[in-house]
Amino acid sequence: MGMTMTTTIDMLNSRRSVPPVALDGPGPDATALKNLLRIAARVPDHGKLAPWRFIVFEGEARQKAGDIIARVFAADNPDASADRIDQERKRLALAPLVIGVVSRAAPHVKIPEWEQVMSAGAACMNLIVAANAMGFAASWLTQWYAYDRRVLDALGLSAHEKMAGFVHIGRPAAVIEDRVRPDLAEIVTRFGA
Ligand SMILES: Cc1cc2nc3c(=O)[nH]c(=O)nc-3n(C[C@H](O)[C@H](O)[C@H](O)COP(=O)(O)O)c2cc1C
Repeated sequence: MGMTMTTTIDMLNSRRSVPPVALDGPGPDATALKNLLRIAARVPDHGKLAPWRFIVFEGEARQKAGDIIARVFAADNPDASADRIDQERKRLALAPLVIGVVSRAAPHVKIPEWEQVMSAGAACMNLIVAANAMGFAASWLTQWYAYDRRVLDALGLSAHEKMAGFVHIGRPAAVIEDRVRPDLAEIVTRFGA
């Protein structure tokens, strides 16, 4: 038990997001992917609403999703070069696996919508922690297309659904230098002190 705990804590203490451009294949195999999705669906969820769902982007499908993103980008940027549009087409095709976490939060008689939204964030984080524990690296990104209704419609999201994030997963191909972390003295208070 001591070993496992140390490994998890060490990983959490040093984990960094690795950008999609530095996430190589091979990605998680079918068994690992299923495990990741099961873990993502095991987050705290007040009222057992499962206020999230997951869209897997793998293989050729990543390019198909990229075509949607590129089409919308080109429509909004008629002067964009072919290279620039191609960059948009590759958005979801850099890492071998991308999991879109969709928030299905909605007004509910008992469970505040805010709590449902946070649960989707927890699902994203569970994916990141699990991927890192499996030896992969990951990045939780939204970027412009996560907020573009035309893209979301084409990806199959209903009007009330939102993209909590795209979690890009792969083998880390670069060591990413750490960034400054918050000073605990600035963000922690002790009640009553
Ligand atoms: C909901 C959400 C969306 C994010 N979207 C982006 C994004 O579009 N682009 C980006 O560069 N970072 C984005 N980030 C930040 C990265 O996920 C990450 O926190 C940052 O690169 C720092 O890496 P770290 O995990 O090593 O601290 C987002 C974070 C969250 C929580």
